[in-house]
Amino acid sequence: MDESLYEEMGGAPFFKQLVTGFYSGIVNDPVLSPMYPAEDIDGAIHRLTMFLTQYWGGPTTYSQERGHPRLRMRHNEFPINSEARDRWLGLMSESLSKLELAPHLRDQLWTYLVTAAHSLVNQPDN
Ligand code: HEM
Repeated sequence: MDESLYEEMGGAPFFKQLVTGFYSGIVNDPVLSPMYPAEDIDGAIHRLTMFLTQYWGGPTTYSQERGHPRLRMRHNEFPINSEARDRWLGLMSESLSKLELAPHLRDQLWTYLVTAAHSLVNQPDN
């Protein structure tokens, strides 16, 4: 990933704000909140922030701390159907809408998040 995309998006403060805003929605979501570690929300914020930072070309702290991302495997223990996916994306969209970001960067980030979220669905819908 081109390092300048991370910088262009706003670097560390941008990713921290995006993920912190997202998690403030997670803790109040009746479907998603039970999946997340209530006692370690700061840790969860750190993991997702570092992952997105690394993905967009910033520091590689995520892999140093967690190894290979293996996102699909790491999500196996959580029941992700289309409702969970769409709630996750809805909270991310809400957080993203509160931040300043040039449209061409917003489009790239959003396309990535939608594709990634679709790839993590691991449960059929009832
Ligand atoms: C589709 C809906 C999704 C659900 C319901 C979901 C749920 C979860 C849950 C419950 C965790 C555990 C929180 C923690 O302790 O870190 C987690 C971790 C994580 N998620 Fe997701 N997630 C979703 C989509 C995504 C997407 C789209 C990405 C990437 C763009 C992502 C990246 C991560 C990362 C990097 C971690 C931390 C992995 C680790 O190092 O342990 N997730 N997710």
